[in-house]
Amino acid sequence: MPCRETDCTNPDTFDACLEQQLHLCQQLEALADSLPSKLDTHAAMMLTDQLRTVLWRCHRTEEAIIFPALRMADPRTMTILERLRQEHLEDEDHASDVCDAVTAFVDDTNRKNAAELGYMLRCLFVSLRRHLAFDHDYILPLYFRTRET
Ligand SMILES: [Fe+2]
Repeated sequence: MPCRETDCTNPDTFDACLEQQLHLCQQLEALADSLPSKLDTHAAMMLTDQLRTVLWRCHRTEEAIIFPALRMADPRTMTILERLRQEHLEDEDHASDVCDAVTAFVDDTNRKNAAELGYMLRCLFVSLRRHLAFDHDYILPLYFRTRET
């Protein structure tokens, strides 16, 4: 179920956004593991669409709803939230490059750059998982607390 901005005021829905992103990471890892000979080109192109849609929407939702609530509850979180916002931008830039690289690889009948694409995919999902672990273990409980007060 997609995480729409209007329904992410509920911590359970924020948790669902994190789950969706973790699922994307699993799919990115499966894509990397399939290179070069077991590549499912249709699934790869579907994944690029999902990556752009889900990642961008979850980030904007987090920044528009979760971050302001945390900042209001405790202004000392500002430095952490700014770092997380920067990580969102960096991961989106990297995801955009990955989407372009996957599309180019699918279109290339020679499939020459499998190792390079695999490295890009692994760098992306490792970075995303690191960020999501912090969101889940630190940001989500903090957000729960703001909802209790
Ligand atoms: Fe985040």
